[in-house]
Amino acid sequence: MNIHVPRGTEDLLPETAKKWQAIEEQLIHLAQIYHYKEIRTPMFERTELFQRSVGDSTDIVQKEMYTFQDRGGRSLTLRPEGTASVARAYVQHKIHGSPEQPTKLYYMGPMFRYERPQQGRTRQFTQFGIEAIGSAHPAIDAEVMAFAMACYQSLGLKSLKLVINSLGDKESREAHRNALVDHFTPVKDELCQDCQNRLEQNPLRLLDCKVDRDHEAMKTAPSILDYLNEESSRYFEHVKKHLDAMGIDYVVDDTLVRGLDYYTHTAFEIMSEADGFGSITTLSGGGRYNGLIEELGGPDISGIGFALSIERLIMAIEAEGIELEYDETVDCYVIAIGEDAKYTASNVVYQLRKDGIKTDQDYLDKKMKGQFKAADRIGAAYVCIIGEDEVNQGVANVKNQQSGEQKTVQIKDISTEIKAGF
Ligand code: HAM
Repeated sequence: MNIHVPRGTEDLLPETAKKWQAIEEQLIHLAQIYHYKEIRTPMFERTELFQRSVGDSTDIVQKEMYTFQDRGGRSLTLRPEGTASVARAYVQHKIHGSPEQPTKLYYMGPMFRYERPQQGRTRQFTQFGIEAIGSAHPAIDAEVMAFAMACYQSLGLKSLKLVINSLGDKESREAHRNALVDHFTPVKDELCQDCQNRLEQNPLRLLDCKVDRDHEAMKTAPSILDYLNEESSRYFEHVKKHLDAMGIDYVVDDTLVRGLDYYTHTAFEIMSEADGFGSITTLSGGGRYNGLIEELGGPDISGIGFALSIERLIMAIEAEGIELEYDETVDCYVIAIGEDAKYTASNVVYQLRKDGIKTDQDYLDKKMKGQFKAADRIGAAYVCIIGEDEVNQGVANVKNQQSGEQKTVQIKDISTEIKAGF
């Protein structure tokens, strides 16, 4: 039997990989515009990191992690997300001591979650994310949301919805938690087993349940927004004012809770509203995490960030029928006729490439006609034809494929002629 990719993973063949490249370039460009710098962390971490940050009671930690023991008996986990690693690196390298604050970082790379694969949900997926650590100013919450929206808008996407909520500070969350327990306890037996566990471990997660979504008690559940203390409420108002100042539309949804435990105050998601987008409409999500750095042994410093997956971004691009632009041009195809010309061609190809000219040649011993066809197929702007006579005279015939114009050029001058264009 032939071996295929593992379930929930995929190969990106060149036709697809070129879309990824175009998107990755755009995202990195945006990071520069928003003044975020790249951080690269390992793809696996000590398991404990995710237990302590993402949270023991979350689906990610309970059901979805790729955890293994290495040969030294350590428990390691393929990263299911990027925030925990960035926070760990921030603490480990004492980045809070650096004069440039807040610390604004971006990352891009594969993440791993053992989920049931479906469209827009894979077991290996690629996140692009940012983390701004070291400021508890509402303007930076708005900046992160603006950046998240720009990731889609700059690629031409339009059917987007920014959904925001506040999860408040510790005190507000505690008050809300108690209200949820009081609300759901009388109907506990009617809820799914997961929700019964959640009621004890993390009642906020109940609001995210897909099974009990339509239960009457869900519709009347206490809203976090009614339990925000004055400071949390004020913070949320300021965040919204900054979004208003930027002219960014949003809707407030008090049931938005997110699937990770580290969030405090602002939480948000971007949804696709495009017709034909799959059933999972969340494109990206993020929020503020005021206790995370301290939880990982650092100082009491707050942060906010978001992450998107390129898989879902591509789904949105396809649903909205957006054509990305690619530079697939080849400047020159070198055609060699005869055995000796092959050596000269190798030299010419090598020199042209050294001069930064995108060049290729035939490696299948094709006849002249076949080589011209190959040049057409790849859309070479120029062909450079080298036969026996040319070899003897140290020249080549360079032809502009579009105009048909042809020139005999000294071999050493080919690059200059092509760069100058004719
Ligand atoms: P998350 O909501 O778990 O948040 O994931 C962020 C995004 O990753 C999702 O909105 C989705 O686009 C994508 N994603 C998640 N799971 C999959 C999957 N199985 N297949 C394809 N795409 C997926 C986080 O990961 C947080 N670290 C975000 C954050 C950064 N919060 C603060 N800073």
